[in-house]
Amino acid sequence: MAAFNTETVLSVHHWNDTLFSFTTTRDMSLRFTNGHFVMIGLEVDGKPLMRAYSVASPNYAEHLEFLSIKVPDGPLTSRLQHLQVGDKILMSRKPVGTLVVDDLRAGRNLYLFGTGTGLAPYMSIIQDPETYERFEKVVLIHGVRYVSELAYKDFIENELPNNEYFGDLIKEKLIYYPTVTREPFRNEGRITTLIESGKLFTDIGLPEIDPKQDRAMICGSPAMLEDISALLDARGMEISPGVGQPGDYVIERAFVEK
Ligand code: A2P
Repeated sequence: MAAFNTETVLSVHHWNDTLFSFTTTRDMSLRFTNGHFVMIGLEVDGKPLMRAYSVASPNYAEHLEFLSIKVPDGPLTSRLQHLQVGDKILMSRKPVGTLVVDDLRAGRNLYLFGTGTGLAPYMSIIQDPETYERFEKVVLIHGVRYVSELAYKDFIENELPNNEYFGDLIKEKLIYYPTVTREPFRNEGRITTLIESGKLFTDIGLPEIDPKQDRAMICGSPAMLEDISALLDARGMEISPGVGQPGDYVIERAFVEK
């Protein structure tokens, strides 16, 4: 497995029956941009079984953090969900990805649209002080089926605003909008519906998305990527054509069934 680094699991947190997160050691030489993903996996039958995982921890943190679903018959996650502290996992050496703030044109408000584990890359992006230097407001919209899937809700609402280094930036600029589709919650409905009806903007107290000034990132299932991209395209926003080529919005296509 020389193609990969071997890292050690430092902690595991189960959010519910379908979702867990874990932290690992970080190779000293691993450098990444917030929003990047790595391939992580396990050796199965003598071969590496690897899947793309966004790094949920910011690039200045000593450890790495990941958010994962648990699919009972998923080739990797059926195994990964049993991780224990001290276990070893395989990790690619070169983080990559398209969900980077550097590939967005300068703008006013930044919308981070995520569903399910599509929240993960945004956890690193919202802990990056540079994100707040580039935008007036950063709006994190997390759509899930059930309330228990609102991972990191308490951290975002209660810990980040009190961060000793950039808590004041968070209080001034970060707007967190969790929304739930399959049980009652204070915000309900799919992100697409909330954009189309305008309810999202009324609720957060910002003007509707202005393609000339506002920017976006999208991370979720293939259907969600397609539907939100279509809404932004219809408003005249241009997708970044590729890494290093700025656009009005960026998406991540790397995530497949785990
Ligand atoms: P819903 O409950 O109506 O399917 P999933 O776990 O399937 O990825 O879904 C996570 C969240 O994303 C759910 O709230 C789900 O709503 C929502 N969702 C699923 N497909 C889309 C889509 N095409 N556009 C917007 N939201 C979606």
